Amino acid sequence: MNNNRLRPLTAAELPRLSELETCCFAPPWSDAQLLSYLSGKRYLCYGIWQAGRLNGFALLSTVLDEAELLQIGVRPDCRGQGLASELMHYVHEELQSCGVNRNMLEVRSSNDAARKLYVRLGYQEDGIRKGYYPTDSGREDAILMSCNNLTLPSER
Ligand SMILES: CC(C)(COP(=O)(O)OP(=O)(O)OC[C@H]1O[C@@H](n2cnc3c(N)ncnc32)[C@H](O)[C@@H]1OP(=O)(O)O)[C@@H](O)C(=O)NCCC(=O)NCCS
Repeated sequence: MNNNRLRPLTAAELPRLSELETCCFAPPWSDAQLLSYLSGKRYLCYGIWQAGRLNGFALLSTVLDEAELLQIGVRPDCRGQGLASELMHYVHEELQSCGVNRNMLEVRSSNDAARKLYVRLGYQEDGIRKGYYPTDSGREDAILMSCNNLTLPSER
């Protein structure tokens, strides 16, 4: 049985989110930035918990019937087990229940894991922002992706 627990994160859970953010991203977003997402009206924050530990999160912004995935991260020792997929399916359901039908995102061209995740969820590539992200050795492109029908691929 799957005991993963999916639910919105609250501002009181900032320390948990901040700890996970630091495990997933370098440099991590600051606590002030994370708090603005947890408490801002047009932002949505969701977490996936296992045995009381926050192991994955997704942050989104919304405008009318569109959303943008700002960040998604899974704890390094929990990757490759389907947590991000489960979280994104939940995110899609939540977005649909808020009347949002389109989700957009940007991903580093070198981020194979994330790009495969999004393609499997039904996202398509819309374009490229040349040299958008800094890297240790220069710049890399951002791939712009979107899903215009948040119904899960298996339900289509
Ligand atoms: C991207 C990330 C969220 C994926 O989380 P995850 O829980 O490991 O993903 P899942 O286990 O749900 O895998 C979903 C799909 O992604 C792909 N994938 C996951 N890890 C992969 C890897 N290391 N290499 C290649 N593909 C991978 C696979 O296609 C997988 O589907 P499959 O198992 O049916 O083949 C995670 O690697 C992460 O937190 N990375 C660091 C933060 C980051 O880059 N976030 C994205 C910013 S845009």
